[in-house]
Amino acid sequence: MILLDGKSLAEAMIDSMKAEAKRLKPTLCVIRVGHNSASLVYIRNKRIACERAGIRFDERDFPASITQAELIREIENVNHDSAINGVIVQLPLPDSIDVPAIIRSIDPIKDVDGFQAYNLGKTMLSTEFEDLPPATALGVMKLLDHYDIALQGKEVVVVGNSNIAGKPITVMMMNRSATVTNCNRSTKNLAEHTLRADILIVAVGHPNLITATMVKKGVTVVDVGINRMPNGKLCGDVDFENVSKKAAFISPVPGGVGPMTVAALILNTVNATRLQKHPVQKKTHSSPYSTFA
Ligand code: GUN
Repeated sequence: MILLDGKSLAEAMIDSMKAEAKRLKPTLCVIRVGHNSASLVYIRNKRIACERAGIRFDERDFPASITQAELIREIENVNHDSAINGVIVQLPLPDSIDVPAIIRSIDPIKDVDGFQAYNLGKTMLSTEFEDLPPATALGVMKLLDHYDIALQGKEVVVVGNSNIAGKPITVMMMNRSATVTNCNRSTKNLAEHTLRADILIVAVGHPNLITATMVKKGVTVVDVGINRMPNGKLCGDVDFENVSKKAAFISPVPGGVGPMTVAALILNTVNATRLQKHPVQKKTHSSPYSTFA
């Protein structure tokens, strides 16, 4: 079994972007509302990664009492500020705020989370249009790429249909000509699908959902879940101890997809800055619409 070591790869990816960051001088703005303890940890990890890459980090904190209209005004200020290249609004937000309305207000060219309809729509077209794909999905692709895990023609099963992970991972697998099955919490007989998988991606937020009897020998498993257990420990959606005995490759939690999401956010921030400063049309050699034929 080979461990998909996202922690080491994320550090190497961030280091490889230092020179480009020095040239482009990007600024990432992180908007935080209220005091969610998980968000504080995620934001700290993003700040550390920005410092390592040489990206200016501009954190703006607002009380949970901020209104939706006030928050949208703050986002519009950031949209219009030419000194800021990337903006993320850390989720979750207080119940009083409508998340889709907030995401809609982010300028797509600064949307380094890749949550905007424009960026998700482009991600659907082909790899050539994946300029700012959702960071978690991009992190998963970079992890598989690094370990030379081919996707073309492979049986890929994605468990989870969120807009942040499951859905974009599914379409990015389609862009790479994998044979993809998407499952979710309502899927009947989940094991019937997961047992077929050459590559199994799990992103539902359900501790130990995938057990050893649900995978075939030699499978590649990518665990996107991050669950905090009552004892304070983090665990994924996969029973790592037992599934790892059957897997050829498996990502751990922590130290797998989590750091890769942060590295992908850094990559998106560098790429967004380049697109803003050098908005040249990329030459494509094949039509993105060829699959419509
Ligand atoms: N909350 C948990 N994960 C994420 C993420 O990737 N982006 C944002 N904005 N909020 C999150």
